[in-house]
Amino acid sequence: MNQHQIIKQKLLDLCPSGVRTDFSGSTVRFGYGDDLSPETTAQVKELLQEWIPWKKGPFSFFDIEIDSEWRSDLKWDRITAHMPSLSQASVADIGCNNAYYMFRMLEHGPKKVTGYDPVEKYDCQFEWMQHLYGKPWPLEFKKEGVESIGAGAEGQELFDVIFCLGILYHRKNPLQTLERMRAALRPGGYLVIDCQGIAGNSKSEVLFPHGKYAGAKGFWFLPSKGSLESWVLRSGFREISTFFSEKLSPSEQRATAWAPHYQLGDMLSKDGLCTIEGYPAPWRHYLVCRR
Ligand SMILES: C[S@@+](CC[C@H](N)C(=O)[O-])C[C@H]1O[C@@H](n2cnc3c(N)ncnc32)[C@H](O)[C@@H]1O
Repeated sequence: MNQHQIIKQKLLDLCPSGVRTDFSGSTVRFGYGDDLSPETTAQVKELLQEWIPWKKGPFSFFDIEIDSEWRSDLKWDRITAHMPSLSQASVADIGCNNAYYMFRMLEHGPKKVTGYDPVEKYDCQFEWMQHLYGKPWPLEFKKEGVESIGAGAEGQELFDVIFCLGILYHRKNPLQTLERMRAALRPGGYLVIDCQGIAGNSKSEVLFPHGKYAGAKGFWFLPSKGSLESWVLRSGFREISTFFSEKLSPSEQRATAWAPHYQLGDMLSKDGLCTIEGYPAPWRHYLVCRR
C-alpha cells in the first residue's frame, strides 16, 4: 500500500458509515462532532493533516473545519447562476480533484456525475467520503485523465454537461483537450469552462511563460478572454457566452493551516499588476458553450 492508501485505510477503520451530511452550503459537511469520541476526532484530525495541502474546499469532517488554499465556493457561486440545468443530466467533472464541486452538484439533481482525476490522493479521499456517506449516490470517481474521454470507444458515454474548471492552462495542447471534450458531449450538450488567463479581449493574445508563473510550475498557455473564445470557437463549439472575466484575487487563493505552502499574494508585485517573474497578473475567464 502507498502512503495515501494507508491514510485512507486508517480513516475507514476509525470512521462510521452513513453519517449526516450537508452539501447545500459553502462548506461540504460529512458528520458532526458528536459522531466521534474526542480521542477518535483527534486521530482523524492527525490523519487529515497528513493529506496537507488541501487545495480545494472548504470541507468539514466531524466539525474538523478544513479551510483549503482555494475558496472553491466562490467559483461555484459564480458558475451556478450561468450553468445549464443539471437536473437528470449526465455530467462529467474533468480534473475533479477532491470532488468538492461534485458534492455541490448533487444539490442540482443530476442523474450521474463522473469525476476524472488521475491522482491517487484524490481517489483515496473520494473512497473515504463515499464510506462516510454510506448510501448509493450518483457520483463516480475515475482515476483517469481527460485523455480517457472522447476517444470514440464503442459504448463510451456521451455527457449532457462537462465541467472543465482550472484545467486548460495546465494542458500542453489546450485545443486537443477541447476537441476531446467536444467528442465526449452529446450534440447540443454544454461545456462549462473556467480558465486562468490574462487581462484583455484581444483575439490573438496568449501568454506562454518561459518557466514558472506566479511561482508555480505547469502553466502552459494563459489566454486573454478573446483568445479563449477563439480556442472554443475553433474547436467546434457554438453559443459561446463568457459570464465572468476578472482579476484573480489573493483572497481566493491563500495560505491556510491546511495548505500552508503557497499564497498568490506573495507571488505578485506590490501593486498587484505583475507576477514575481514580471508576467501580467492572473485573470480568470468563465464561459459556457454548446456542442
Ligand atoms: C488546478 S486543479 C483544478 C481542480 C478543480 N477542477 C478546480 O477547478 O478547482 C487541476 C486538477 O487537474 C488534475 N489533473 C492532472 N492531470 C490531469 C489529467 N491528465 N486529466 C484531468 N485532470 C488532471 C489535477 O490532479 C488537479 O486536481
